[in-house]
Amino acid sequence: MELLGSDDESLRRAGECLASGGLVAFPTETVYGLGADAFDARAVARVFEAKARPSFDPLIVHLASASDIERVAEIPSREARALMDALWPGPLTLVMPKREKLPDIVTSGLATVAVRLPANAVARSIIAYSGTAVAAPSANPFGYLSPTLAEHVRRFLGDKVDIIVDGGPCSVGVESTVLDMTSDPPRILRPGGMPAETIEEVIGPIIHSRIEAHAPGGLGAASPGLLDSHYAPRTPLHLLETGCLASARPSGRAAVLVSSAVSGSTLEACSGRFALARYLSPVGDLVEAAAGLFAALHELDSGGFDQIWAELAPESGLGPAINDRLRKAAKKNQ
Ligand code: TXA
Ligand code: MG
Repeated sequence: MELLGSDDESLRRAGECLASGGLVAFPTETVYGLGADAFDARAVARVFEAKARPSFDPLIVHLASASDIERVAEIPSREARALMDALWPGPLTLVMPKREKLPDIVTSGLATVAVRLPANAVARSIIAYSGTAVAAPSANPFGYLSPTLAEHVRRFLGDKVDIIVDGGPCSVGVESTVLDMTSDPPRILRPGGMPAETIEEVIGPIIHSRIEAHAPGGLGAASPGLLDSHYAPRTPLHLLETGCLASARPSGRAAVLVSSAVSGSTLEACSGRFALARYLSPVGDLVEAAAGLFAALHELDSGGFDQIWAELAPESGLGPAINDRLRKAAKKNQ
């Protein structure tokens, strides 16, 4: 594995590596992705293998420019076009009918493809240099915490990729919002870095409701990546409702992750009972909290704690995305 910086020569080499069937981990504004040429079924198969990801869990295809959409998807609907114009590039993935020539391995045999245009300039430049569209899941072993630093990728997948491009920490810090444009109205399959409120400002009401992932015909079938246990640290994780830090009953050496604004009562609830308290955003800014979420979980998970306790964030803006990750991370222990 080669670790490259984000100078133009490195990005060109990363693009060439993708074009010749290699695996490249690269930064996006959400999390680091593990990319392969979306039209090279063998390279895409290596991505599934590297992550130990089940083949029924489809990948997101990343573009260098919105005008490349028709290489992978059928002509976008009016609503999809409106979202692309208003919110791309950015942390919004649109699920649309796929083009026949996109290999089935990318979409796990579904008739739809998930597509996004990342806001991160390093990502777009690598994709542009590759001359293709890039299929990329998050660059973490399946089911483990997503990477928001090149170091996270190196530590857990370093021996399985050809190149890691270090573009510094990811600014958004949670994965993209996945929106199913084949549903009427469109439906959120995964809450993420693009708040539902922002999407609704462009196309009006969408469906946010969480359907049971395992229900017949539920999201487990529609978007297999929404399986309950995901993004999980190895240390047992326990959840606390917003503002209820005092109700934690830690045992052993425990750490606490605080998602809401820090007040005197927060400090009081944490001090003495936890070996370490990590405040995601002392002023209660959910954008800041999301940006640091996975890095904090990685750090606490390697801190040798017996337990991690985490407070849920308020349910607005990026709150649903943060809480979705925390709930999935905690699911393993139930
Ligand atoms: O921010 C992100 O989206 C990051 C960066 C690297 O772009 N990528 C990412 O990929 O989170 P991944 O593979 O970890 O998650 C992709 C999600 C999964 O939940 C998957 O089931 C869903 O997108 N998905 C992909 N294709 C789909 C499709 N055709 N229909 C429904 N859901 C799909
Ligand atoms: Mg993932």
